[in-house]
Amino acid sequence: MDIAFAADKGGVGKTTLAYHVATRLRQVGADICLIDLDGRSASTAWVGETGYVPAYTYEVLSDGLPSHAVRVWDTPAHPGPDMRRTLAELVDMIVIVAQPDRESQRAAIDLYAHLAPINPLVRVLLNAFPPTSREGQTSAQALSDAGIACLTTSVRAYRCYQRAQWDERAVCDYPYPSADNAWSDICTLTDEILETLNGRQVDA
Ligand SMILES: Nc1ncnc2c1ncn2[C@@H]1O[C@H](COP(=O)(O)OP(=O)(O)O)[C@@H](O)[C@H]1O
Ligand SMILES: [Mg+2]
Repeated sequence: MDIAFAADKGGVGKTTLAYHVATRLRQVGADICLIDLDGRSASTAWVGETGYVPAYTYEVLSDGLPSHAVRVWDTPAHPGPDMRRTLAELVDMIVIVAQPDRESQRAAIDLYAHLAPINPLVRVLLNAFPPTSREGQTSAQALSDAGIACLTTSVRAYRCYQRAQWDERAVCDYPYPSADNAWSDICTLTDEILETLNGRQVDA
């Protein structure tokens, strides 16, 4: 099963979410890996040398995909035609990441228009919303009203994600209330992704 995080924009949280969702899946016992297609190998650097979450770089596209039960893909910003075709052909679910700003949401809508006709399971995820507001749900509603399929989970903004990246750790490793909140978003997001994939398998 393949799940890709994508965006037509850099800096929206693809690497952060791919790494954390992979970590959550590993924590609940899934046989998972990260496929790091970002030119700067950001998620490979994040997983470090521990092997807890194995990571592979773009060579697997030509050499053959590793045989883990679940592969979480971290993809480059601005996927061109070749990358879009790869996503359409090889990935079961594409999560397009958008932040609250207008430009990021426009980029998400543009990419959705390219990918939704060629992959049956494309969902927009709203990331980095203010922790105390309901803005995430309101934006998701506005996008769904416009015909864009969104995940109902939105991921709130917490600074612990930056710290976790510096430390090559996950937010679940920190004993702070804000890190607990951040991790709870990741767990809810992972559950919703799995439910969406399972729903598709039942429909098929
Ligand atoms: N929910 C969030 N809350 C706070 N900071 C976030 C969140 N998601 C991502 N970030 C931060 O935004 C920056 C860009 O994230 P990154 O995952 O590298 O984006 P991308 O892979 O899309 O380029 C990083 O500093 C990361 O820590
Ligand atoms: Mg990245």
